[in-house]
Amino acid sequence: MTRTAIVTGGTRGIGLAIAKQLSEDGFSVVIVGTREKEAYAEQLKWFDENERDYLYVTGDISNKEDRIHIVKMSVSHYGKINLLVNNAGVAPKVRADLLTMSEESFDYVLGINLRGNMFLTQLVANQMTQQEEKGIIINVSSCSAEVSSVNRGEYCVSKAGVSMLTKLYADRLSSEGILVYEVRPGVILTDMTSTVQSKYEKMIEDGVFPIRRWGVPEDVALAVSAFAGGKFPYTTGNYIDVDGGFHIKRL
Ligand SMILES: NC(=O)c1ccc[n+]([C@@H]2O[C@H](COP(=O)([O-])OP(=O)(O)OC[C@H]3O[C@@H](n4cnc5c(N)ncnc54)[C@H](OP(=O)(O)O)[C@@H]3O)[C@@H](O)[C@H]2O)c1
Repeated sequence: MTRTAIVTGGTRGIGLAIAKQLSEDGFSVVIVGTREKEAYAEQLKWFDENERDYLYVTGDISNKEDRIHIVKMSVSHYGKINLLVNNAGVAPKVRADLLTMSEESFDYVLGINLRGNMFLTQLVANQMTQQEEKGIIINVSSCSAEVSSVNRGEYCVSKAGVSMLTKLYADRLSSEGILVYEVRPGVILTDMTSTVQSKYEKMIEDGVFPIRRWGVPEDVALAVSAFAGGKFPYTTGNYIDVDGGFHIKRL
């Protein structure tokens, strides 16, 4: 039986790799991005060339009407949602010290990374509870849920929030047969890290990450695939680091 997955931010970077991996795993994938479909012709080519079943939906997850639209389109097209991958996320437009960070930047980052995920999950959870086949929800947070970066505090706060909403939804939805997991990437080579590429390259060279290479989107996609595959039926509210061992405290 076909399984349907929504991947927010599936147009680029980590989300695109997740969408491709889930497609390889047999899911029909609803790919969500902020622009019209034509803008992603290059990225979506792979799905067309490989005759994969997918639906592209335009939506800004920070916008309530758009969130409703994403869920409505998914259900009207596929009749159900088996998996939600909350991957869409942004960094602050400007990295500013905690003592000068603006409220606008805080609201922008939290509005997408936290409020967007919180309430899209709420909508999808309400859909899943009505289905015979329940489902799985996977949140892409970050090592920043734990690690302090004082020049992008709003991002760290948003990701710490994603970790808490993982636990909250895992707790609330366990009795509904819905499992919730979190994947915590470290430093991954995507558009998001392109502005600080040389900084991270130096850190890799210096051995800050025990596995001495860039993380790639496919590394994160494989972890999502593992959770999505239903191999953890007695596990919920847990996270896995995909960070080359960065989380290990060393002496
Ligand atoms: N790269 C890293 O090192 C790293 C590390 C830890 C965690 N993460 C997390 O991993 C996730 C993906 O990151 P990435 O590096 O792949 O980022 P990316 O290359 O910048 O891609 C971000 C994706 O999110 C989508 N998006 C942004 N704002 C959105 C909104 N309001 N509504 C819907 N979609 C939106 C973008 O869509 P458009 O194409 O339409 O703009 C794009 O598909 C994020 O949550 C990020 O915080 C990344």
